[in-house]
Amino acid sequence: MIFAMDEIYQVSDLTAGTLGSLTPPARLAVFGDPVAHSKSPVFHNAALKAAGLDAQYVKILVRPDELPAALRALPQAGFLGTNVTIPHKAGALATVDEADDYARRSGAVNTVVVENDRLLGFNTDGPGLLRAIREEFSVDLRDLRVLLLGAGGGAGRAIAVQCAMEGCERLVLVNRTVDKARQLTAELAPFFRSDRLVGPVERLQAIAHEENALRDQLAHTDIVINATSVGMKRSDPPLLSAGLLTANLMVYDTVYAAGKSRLLEDAEAAGARTANGLSMLLHQGALSFEIWFNRPAPLEVMRAALRGQ
Ligand code: ATR
Repeated sequence: MIFAMDEIYQVSDLTAGTLGSLTPPARLAVFGDPVAHSKSPVFHNAALKAAGLDAQYVKILVRPDELPAALRALPQAGFLGTNVTIPHKAGALATVDEADDYARRSGAVNTVVVENDRLLGFNTDGPGLLRAIREEFSVDLRDLRVLLLGAGGGAGRAIAVQCAMEGCERLVLVNRTVDKARQLTAELAPFFRSDRLVGPVERLQAIAHEENALRDQLAHTDIVINATSVGMKRSDPPLLSAGLLTANLMVYDTVYAAGKSRLLEDAEAAGARTANGLSMLLHQGALSFEIWFNRPAPLEVMRAALRGQ
C-alpha cells in the first residue's frame, strides 16, 4: 500500500493489523469523530520524515463506542501511541492504565503512549498553550492576569488547569453558564492560596459572560484567551463587544479554522496584540512527538508543514 495522507482509516483497519503494511508503516494516529479536518498528519508526517523515522501518522475514524477497543488494539497493531481529539479526550483518560497529573486534573488525554502492553496518557494541550504564548507574546503565563472565555467547556477546563498549575497572577473564569465556572473555581482554589501580595481584586474568580462583568474584569487583565468555539464560523456573533477591547491587552484565540476570527479582528483594530490557535496546535503536536520519541521535535519543519496547508 502507498502513502496517502488524506486517507481516513477505520478501527477495523487497526484491529486487523493492516496498517503496519503501509509504506512507511503506520505507527501513530489521531483518533477522532469527525477526523477528516485534522491537520495533525500533515505536521507529524513532516516531522517523522525529517527525523529519519520509518513510520507514518494516520487518521482513524473512531466512534465513541469504539474508543476503548481502538486504544486497546494499539500494542498488538505495533503502534507507538496515538493522539485523540474530539470527542474522545475524556474517554481516553478513562481507558488508559495511567495518566499524568495534568491529564488527570484537566479530565482529558490527547496523547497516548504504548509501553509494552500498557497505555500511558498525557495531555499536551495546556503545555502547548504555555509554549505558544511564550512564543507569540514573549511572556510567561505565570506572570499574567488571565481572563478565560469558555471556561466551562472541555478546552476551557484544560487551559484553566494549566493556568492554575502555573500559578498565574490572576485567573478569571468566564462562562455563559456561570455555575460551571464556579465549580471549576472551587476545584482550583488551592492553587491560588499563597502569601502573594493581594491586590485590589481576587486572584481567582468566576463570572458570567455578560458585558458589565467583563468590563470590570478587563480592567485587571493582561491576556484574554478564547476557549469557546465561537468564531469558527464567519457568521458567529461577536464574543466580546469591540468597545471592551483595549490596546494594552493580549488576545489569544484558540480558534484557528476561519483565518482571523471576529474577536482577533476587533482586538487588532483596538491596537491589542493578537494570535490564533495555530501556535497551540503546533506546540501540542511538538510535545506529543517529544513524549513518543524522547527527543526534541523538529519544530521548524512542523511549522512549515502547517503553514503550507
Ligand atoms: P468543548 O467541551 O469541546 O470545549 P463545548 O462543551 O461546546 O466544547 O464548550 C464550549 C464552550 O463555549 C462552553 O464554555 C460554552 O458555554 P456554556 O458552558 O455556557 O455552554 C461556550 N460557548 C458556546 N457558545 C457560546 C456563546 N455563543 N457565547 C459564549 N460562550 C459560548
